[in-house]
Amino acid sequence: MTEVEIYYFSGTGNSLYVAKELQKRIPKADLIPVVSLLNKDVIETSGETVGFVFPIHFMTVPIPVKRFIKKLDLKSARYIFAVATRTGTQHIAFIEIEKILKKRGKSLNSSFTLNMGCNDPRDKDYHPVTKGEIAELESEVQKRLDSIKKIIINQENSREKDSEFIPASSGLGRLVRLGMAYAEHNGAKNYFYADSRCMGCGKCEKVCLSGKIKMIDNKPVWQESVKCYFCYACLNYCPAKAVQIKSKLYMKSHTEENERYSHPYATADEIAEQKSGRK
Ligand SMILES: Cc1cc2nc3c(=O)[nH]c(=O)nc-3n(C[C@H](O)[C@H](O)[C@H](O)COP(=O)(O)O)c2cc1C
Ligand code: SF4
Ligand code: SF4
Repeated sequence: MTEVEIYYFSGTGNSLYVAKELQKRIPKADLIPVVSLLNKDVIETSGETVGFVFPIHFMTVPIPVKRFIKKLDLKSARYIFAVATRTGTQHIAFIEIEKILKKRGKSLNSSFTLNMGCNDPRDKDYHPVTKGEIAELESEVQKRLDSIKKIIINQENSREKDSEFIPASSGLGRLVRLGMAYAEHNGAKNYFYADSRCMGCGKCEKVCLSGKIKMIDNKPVWQESVKCYFCYACLNYCPAKAVQIKSKLYMKSHTEENERYSHPYATADEIAEQKSGRK
């Protein structure tokens, strides 16, 4: 029996890096991409310890991760942990996971949030993290992972302080949930486009974790019928920076002028490999 199963989801490599670093530190740990199992109706776990590693999206759990946890049987799990990577906002991710687990008579034993580079270049004041900032963030992440590892191996209960979270019942908490429900329903219809810099290389289709992008006549098409996971792999891995987010009435997008980000150790191939299976 596998002792520890680490399920991960990652658009640009931050969470992949964290998942891999945790696997190195925890004996007998398997790394399993969430995306590879999403088409199953029920997902069976066999680990006594089960963990989730994922980015914060729109202040909460990414759509595919929430869907995934809802399908997990978790019969074997005696200890459950979650690690979220983010840029820096508050979030309701652990509260949302806890709600799903409660319905299965389970709960989160430990949860941790790590600050990492931002992969969302929509804002006017977005600046990609510099090499120096990446080194600082990584050294902090390494330190945190050393203590997170001990907590997991010793099966300790350790939930981060409530000040990290938005109260579930607050106005902002409700707004976050509403926003995510809308994003899930809408599935990023009319959200991305490729500008004239596109050279038809097909990398965006390759990294697209939901299968939304299809190359047609050497141009990417974001298919309306396929829902997006908002991983932003297409946006950040396009070598020509040709993938853009459209501006909306309520939000101007600055992706045309802004730089892109992906974790320095994560290749587009590794992101795409999430579609195929366990490591
Ligand atoms: C669609 C989207 C929404 C995001 N929303 C938030 C957010 O609400 N708060 C935050 O701190 N970071 C947010 N981020 C930044 C990511 O959480 C952060 O860069 C994360 O480490 C990326 O992990 P990954 O490389 O594994 O995908 C968002 C990123 C994306 C793509
Ligand atoms: S990755 Fe960029 S350049 Fe390549 S096909 Fe997609 S949009 Fe065009
Ligand atoms: S369309 Fe882009 S953001 Fe959406 S799932 Fe595909 S790669 Fe991720």
